[in-house]
Amino acid sequence: MINVDRLTVDYLDCVEGITAPPKFGWIIGSDKNNVIQRSYILQIALDDIFTALVHDSGIVESDNSNYVVALGFKLTSSTKYYARVKVFDKDEESDWSISAAFTSALISNDEWRAVFVSAETDADADNSKGTYVRRDFRVKSEISRAVVYSTARGLYHMYINGLKVGHDEFSPGWTSYKKRLQYQAYDVTELLNLGENVIGAILGAGWYKGVIGFEWYRNHYGRQTAFLCQLVIFYIDGTKETICTDSSWKGADAPVTFSEIYDGETYDARMIPEGWNRAGFNDVGWRMVETMPLDNSILVSQPGCRVRTQERLPVKRIFITPQGDTVLDFGQNMSGWVCFKVKGDSGDVVELNHFEVLDADGNAYYINLLGAKQTIRYILKGGVEESFHPYFTFQGFQYVRIKEYPGEVMPENFEAVVLHSDMRQTGWFECSNPDINQLQHNILWGLKGNFLDIPTDCPQRTERLGWTGDAEIFSSTACFLMDTHTFFCKWLQDLSADQKPDGGVPYMVPDILNFEPSNSNRHFVEEGTFMSPGMHSATAWSDAALIIPWAVYMTYGDISVLERQYNSMKAWIEFMQRYSNGCIWRFSLELGDWLARDGKNEYIGATEHDFICAAYFVYSTSIFVKAAKILGKLHDYKKYQTLLKRIVEDFHNEFFTPNGRLAVHTQTAHILALWFDLVPEAHRKRTTDALVELLDAYDKHLVTGFVGTPFFTFALSHNGHLKEAFDLLLNDDLPSWLYEVKAGATTVWERWDCRKPDGSLCDPNSNSFNHYAYGAIGDWLYRDISGINPDESCPGYKHTVIAPHFGGKLNYVKSSFSSIYGDIAVEWHLSGNKVALDLVIPHNTTATVNLEQAASAPSGAIFTKVDVGYSARIGSGQHHIVFTM
Ligand code: BGC
Repeated sequence: MINVDRLTVDYLDCVEGITAPPKFGWIIGSDKNNVIQRSYILQIALDDIFTALVHDSGIVESDNSNYVVALGFKLTSSTKYYARVKVFDKDEESDWSISAAFTSALISNDEWRAVFVSAETDADADNSKGTYVRRDFRVKSEISRAVVYSTARGLYHMYINGLKVGHDEFSPGWTSYKKRLQYQAYDVTELLNLGENVIGAILGAGWYKGVIGFEWYRNHYGRQTAFLCQLVIFYIDGTKETICTDSSWKGADAPVTFSEIYDGETYDARMIPEGWNRAGFNDVGWRMVETMPLDNSILVSQPGCRVRTQERLPVKRIFITPQGDTVLDFGQNMSGWVCFKVKGDSGDVVELNHFEVLDADGNAYYINLLGAKQTIRYILKGGVEESFHPYFTFQGFQYVRIKEYPGEVMPENFEAVVLHSDMRQTGWFECSNPDINQLQHNILWGLKGNFLDIPTDCPQRTERLGWTGDAEIFSSTACFLMDTHTFFCKWLQDLSADQKPDGGVPYMVPDILNFEPSNSNRHFVEEGTFMSPGMHSATAWSDAALIIPWAVYMTYGDISVLERQYNSMKAWIEFMQRYSNGCIWRFSLELGDWLARDGKNEYIGATEHDFICAAYFVYSTSIFVKAAKILGKLHDYKKYQTLLKRIVEDFHNEFFTPNGRLAVHTQTAHILALWFDLVPEAHRKRTTDALVELLDAYDKHLVTGFVGTPFFTFALSHNGHLKEAFDLLLNDDLPSWLYEVKAGATTVWERWDCRKPDGSLCDPNSNSFNHYAYGAIGDWLYRDISGINPDESCPGYKHTVIAPHFGGKLNYVKSSFSSIYGDIAVEWHLSGNKVALDLVIPHNTTATVNLEQAASAPSGAIFTKVDVGYSARIGSGQHHIVFTM
């Protein structure tokens, strides 16, 4: 029997407010093996019983079960649709799938009638208070449906008749606001009443006008918060009414008296105007809003992957520090906030200070926050039990000091709420070594802590910025762990938007280093720092422009990410070419092998900039050549293939002696040369041997930074040194991944020695305990130990290459990846020298299993001898394979 287990719209289970015809995808279920779809029927209707069909594909002969476009289907604005699919294989047909609902937003931005309204004035530019805006309206007769589109300059929560609209936090998200402002779409049919209604919002400074960046500047995008919404009411009688933000709205100061991303929030519950967002409220005393024109060309809908509450963690323990502070420990470093309950008198205060770690004496440690106060102050209304969590700020923390709290601090009154972009977990890895399992946990939590609308370096100190390099090196691991398709596609569009006219790519996206000084108190600091004019584009960081679209394409097979990013990718290659002499390009401030331990400078490591720039120039160009070919851009393909050939040759001449010595004598240089395929074939062995010598020179430890670390184990295991790769993974003294694990880490640290063996803490300037960059080792766990690899010639896991590696005294590994076709599972058990390998391959896909040994499979897979080891091609379903090592 076959069936459709899951139907997605634009890769998601639930999308609200699309503006372009979607792509459909589905997962086929069956109890048989070797299932390949022969054809499908896709229907789209205006009702969930599919009587009002707007699209019927008829039988389409195709094995495509992803990237499916409904040919000829045109979206209408503000409409709810239902899709369903039926599939056929060679023997049978499935039932109709469960339907997937999706809604459209405003297809053309010309349909916007609203203007921004603000309860602030220009004089509030340096103010971090919250404000309300509201208006009453009448629903004149029975409605069939109501939808609202909303966004803000700043952050907002919207309410209708006293209830919050949707479950999203930190809307409208953080984008390159001057060029792309997201709006959210909500179906609010259930919230409207016949007769009097109220719509309103509370606004906060957020990323738009609050303090952002390590130089403490504010007003990056503007000086006033403002709200924009358009409510469309469809009446049963066929008429339609639109309620917009306009000059009739009123505003007031909100009980959020202060809110900043870094510093936290103060809320005075005594100021709550009871019933402000419900009908019958007397708004005399509220001021008229200021209206501000809308440039509707920058509006883009955000149909999914919005920030939401993901998990809730109870207090693990309450204790008193040697300094006498009462501290809650949630047992997990994370991003989000604390939700608490309290009862006391009017004017009583709750004050919470959030932090990541205890110092060597067991006291609260704030210094690594670099001034971010991470403080929540709540002033009680009094009398009844009250509960609170912040509106417009999040904290990076494991611990919370209770500075003030009326009454006894009881654990059940506190809960840590984990917030990040709404993505489903897709990757799992477990093995017989509990320390590696904890490492895997820490990598996952590094993602959870730093994927709050944009990929950030860290979630706690005065940065929380979209550093391109951090995202680039972690992207492949992230694509395994969670469904990052929508998340990365959104951020990449901001990368393109913030790209310089000459193709340069900013250090961070959104780029807060280049804003309009007229908005702020900004003064330019000394030459040669991030903040000086004209600074952007660093190798390995800016290459995010190529490497992340490619990682997304490999994972999801979605050609549109390459199409959309093509000009951005090309511009970055041209930028490097413009500033190059041969394979070496130079522009401004480089970041080197960031935080490597082999340099004189504690930040940039010993590997020469010229080498890293050249290696990445070649690597990114090689990706671009592949992308140009895939997209059929033959002129570019030929042109950049010629460039690639030339810079590879130049690289060989520049960095390899005729006898094969690599001229840059660092671990990172050898790793990049090997992993980016930059070694002349004749010198591969010598280069590999040199890398192993460089490993031995440091007592078999890495001294690599952000650039070399992600590929160290790959460079070893793919060049005949699997044992050394496992040994490196299993080191548990400084510097190593498991050192952190043994030291009690619950996330991945920024530096190998964030906490030293004596318990003391390292340089507070770069001492984040939640920095995912070194979590890039995850990629090796999934690709090389469990062996789950996409196939470049058939991406999106339509064909998977399974190539597990055995070692590190592991006697079992259980891993799975929930691909767009379904779960790929690899489980191996080693007993003596016998290996049992169990695989699950999704239906409508195939796989190649590569092993070093000859193997047999009762399921019928036949292994044949190939150049290196043995290989079998298998179909979908379950496979049991056995062999002797
Ligand atoms: C960030 C890094 C980032 C680096 C680049 C740091 O402060 O936290 O992760 O990539 O700066 O200079």
